[in-house]
Amino acid sequence: MLLQLILTPLGWLKNSVSVVAEDALLATLSAGPIPQHVAFILDGNRRYARSKDKQVNLGHTDGFYNLKKMLEVCIKMKVRCVSAYAFSIENFKRSPGEVEALMDLAEQKLLEFCEQGSILEQYGIKLVVVGHKDMLPERVRAAAEKAEALTAHHDRAIFNLCMPYTSRDEMTTAVQTCIQECLVNESMDSKISAEDIDAHLMTSLAGSPPLDILIRTSGVKRLSDYLLWQCSEDTQLQFSNKYWPEFGMLDFVPIILDYQRKAWAQAS
Ligand code: FPP
Ligand code: MG
Repeated sequence: MLLQLILTPLGWLKNSVSVVAEDALLATLSAGPIPQHVAFILDGNRRYARSKDKQVNLGHTDGFYNLKKMLEVCIKMKVRCVSAYAFSIENFKRSPGEVEALMDLAEQKLLEFCEQGSILEQYGIKLVVVGHKDMLPERVRAAAEKAEALTAHHDRAIFNLCMPYTSRDEMTTAVQTCIQECLVNESMDSKISAEDIDAHLMTSLAGSPPLDILIRTSGVKRLSDYLLWQCSEDTQLQFSNKYWPEFGMLDFVPIILDYQRKAWAQAS
């Protein structure tokens, strides 16, 4: 009991000191060139869970908490747009139990985003659920639409939660929309340009700036159908060996320093 009385304030003090130190580091970094758009492929939740003798679903839950943490880190660093690959269309092929648990988690967290004092309200972040939303169960779609409507007027930052998403689906949809617009405007002779497709991508419609950094965790070096169009210009691809729930500031800061070093080299 006595030990607890001593340790509780000590733990609180340690946390407060590390938050202050973290904020100071982020403020210092944000004095240099900062990426406008950072995207994450959140990989390794299940391997993380197994490595900790936890249930797979708890790996996804810890993955969500880390996503919130990294979103906050990015916003404090003044990154304008954060994208996260939360659920691929391919993920529907996983076991019904895992898909159901991921959908439960998504619904619960999207509804939490709607609560007063949520991270989205606190930092003025607009949530955009990017992807083939009609593939989601009705309850998840409703939660997504509610969170989007509640945050639509936020203008400090954009959070693209990509689910259910694949890049090929996004590109196909963009081309289809371009064709439909040509048909409606009876301008079939006009060619569809790369700029037309770019403007009709779901991320562009959400107002996302060009993608500066794409990070994939868990030691896997593939893009897995994520933001393929967006990362084909000046995007820096970064791969971390950490499982997503364990990816943190110590992994992220060197990536930002590398970005700044390249930006300064280009400018000189
Ligand atoms: C990849 O790890 C992760 C996913 C497929 C799901 C990611 C989802 C979250 C972090 C939470 C999403 C939040 C919301 C609001 C939906 P993996 O399952 O491929 O793990 P593995 O690579 O170790 O097998
Ligand atoms: Mg994986």
